[in-house]
Amino acid sequence: MPIVNLEDRVFLLSTRDMSYVVYIERGGALCGAYWGPRMDRIEDFADAIWLPRCANAPSAQYMMEECSAFGNMRFKETSLKLCHPDGTRDFRYTVEYKSVEGDTLTIALRDVHYPVRVKLCYRVYEQENILEKWRVVENLGGAPVRLDRVYSGEFGLDGMGWQSLNYNGHWAGEFQACSEEVACGKVTYESLRGNTGHAHAPAFVLHQGATEDSGDVFFGMLAWSGNFKVVAQPVERQYVSLLIGVNDTDFAVTLGGGEAFTTPSVYAGYAQGFTAMTHALTDFARARIMPRRLADAPLPVLYNAWEAVEFHVNETEQMRLAEVAAQLGVELFVVDDGWFKGRNGDAAGLGDWVVDRNKFPRGLGPLIEHVKRLGMRFGLWIEPEMVNEDSDLYRAHPEWVYRYENRPVLTFRNQYMLDMTNLDVVQYLFGMLDALLRENDIAYVKWDMNRYASEAGSSALAAADYPSIWYRHVEGVYALIRRLREAHPEVEWECCSSGGGRVDYGAMAFFDEFWTSDNTDPLDRLSIQWGYSLLYPVRYMRAWLTSGGALNGRGFPMAFYAHAAMCGAFGIGRDLNAASEGELAEMAGYVAEYKRLRDVVQLGKLYRLARFEAGRDSLCAVQYVKDGRSVLFAFLQAGGFARPYHRLRLKGLAEGGIYNYAIDGETHKKSGAWLMRHGIDLKLQGAYASRVIEFEREA
Ligand code: GLA
Repeated sequence: MPIVNLEDRVFLLSTRDMSYVVYIERGGALCGAYWGPRMDRIEDFADAIWLPRCANAPSAQYMMEECSAFGNMRFKETSLKLCHPDGTRDFRYTVEYKSVEGDTLTIALRDVHYPVRVKLCYRVYEQENILEKWRVVENLGGAPVRLDRVYSGEFGLDGMGWQSLNYNGHWAGEFQACSEEVACGKVTYESLRGNTGHAHAPAFVLHQGATEDSGDVFFGMLAWSGNFKVVAQPVERQYVSLLIGVNDTDFAVTLGGGEAFTTPSVYAGYAQGFTAMTHALTDFARARIMPRRLADAPLPVLYNAWEAVEFHVNETEQMRLAEVAAQLGVELFVVDDGWFKGRNGDAAGLGDWVVDRNKFPRGLGPLIEHVKRLGMRFGLWIEPEMVNEDSDLYRAHPEWVYRYENRPVLTFRNQYMLDMTNLDVVQYLFGMLDALLRENDIAYVKWDMNRYASEAGSSALAAADYPSIWYRHVEGVYALIRRLREAHPEVEWECCSSGGGRVDYGAMAFFDEFWTSDNTDPLDRLSIQWGYSLLYPVRYMRAWLTSGGALNGRGFPMAFYAHAAMCGAFGIGRDLNAASEGELAEMAGYVAEYKRLRDVVQLGKLYRLARFEAGRDSLCAVQYVKDGRSVLFAFLQAGGFARPYHRLRLKGLAEGGIYNYAIDGETHKKSGAWLMRHGIDLKLQGAYASRVIEFEREA
């Protein structure tokens, strides 16, 4: 039984290995009693009460509540704030009802005076070890109620000494993992950019010095692709309060009589060590979040010429590139930015999703047919939420962008952001993109978003509703992709936002993969991929082999580019026209090798073995295990200190299993126990050396 109830007062929610206990305190507050390894005896919680460990304490401030509301004597960050027409900004409740339906517990809190109900919903994913939380705020009366803040979930972790892990990222430097102490004040991670952003994850990960393999780790992932906020706050040195949800900055939603607001969900879990956290999240994502059609299939090898030709695409050259790509073994040929009307640079064209007749005089048809004849599928880039001033769409509808009446609209990359709160805009985009997909045999779409939002005003909304725009924009995006997917279920969708600016569990439900970063420098990329892989599945991590020295002014051996990209969903972004015969043959070799390995990489379990350390001759190594197969990727930044050999201990193998593998042509046979305890000594020397080693278990 995933949900057990004692006297209608205590609720024990259990997955295979984790329990979460909530109870109604004798004063009527709904509080958290326990979160951690699985507990089976609910009777132990029969006498759960809140014991303030400080005599001079307003209880509401001290309690580890499940839904602390602004007001009362709460001085900490709270997870709900409502405003009634009479100015009352307070929520005082009694528990109205509790209901258990299968794997879901709902506890309804009803205001003691106003006709407002807040439903706290908990869903238990027993097998996947995940607890989902979300809330529904209902206005049951006639008068409007303004919602100024509503987080998806509130959690508490007892005691002090917690550390918080998140990212300290930026464009071309996403997913830089960083742990900091939650000692005093508040630790906040947020986005105010209109999308998830490149800086932080909409997630919390709390631990006390955990490692890959040990230590309690408590985590939660918000399924939301817009402004979010995560707060970890030590409260009165008793516990750490964790709040996660839609950002309350410039947020307000007014609920009319009978209306309700449902928050996005947060998926929370508990694991021993970061590796177990990654595995729990990956398994859960595959079973419950990813669109079903491709969830269990490895992604195809793609070619994308963006880094090679940028906006200069045309039929003849793309056909030639397709021929070379097909010879390399590429399965999906993608035309990136630059194919649509007037798009010769970033100053024009966005919004007009029809083919540029100067570049493709016969339309896209002949290129698509050519690509298909070569045995590949065809993919195309779009950026639906954006418009250039120089576009037919903007000329026809200047009122369709976010703007304030008396302010110029800021541009970024010469583009404005379309008002996705306006149903006419969403309908228009659907019509245009639906036609594009109906008229052309397009198997894959890369959906980009290359600017953050600003001037959140809309011609479709009353001024008082402008602070709902950040939220409604994301709803508009979700509505559009949902409709497009329904109309074109066979299409594969990639989610991109100037690289990894929209990577989250909300987007994951609508897209089949993420573009991880615009930075394809393999050394940077290994660090980006390392951080990414903590919280998101490798299966979604698109990675290209390029020659991309542009960002950092440095180059690498092709093997280093290739091996770094083979750690994810492999693709090629190199200029194939500029490649020599020898380089093409080398690339074809990597494609063939990757196809052999990709089941293990994309669908196996990931182990992070070693990470570059600044100023050392250290290694980065990651390993993947699926059934009896394993693949190890090892990278040396620069050898030194007369150390040709590097010991690597493997993980996740069967102790008693016997594994065959070869290093530099020399074959070996060792037990899983030896490989994991003793480890292999890998010879890696010089600058940017790398190896891929495959392990096969004897039957
Ligand atoms: C963004 C993407 C790139 C590419 C360009 C095209 O930067 O992240 O991969 O698609 O846009 O303009």
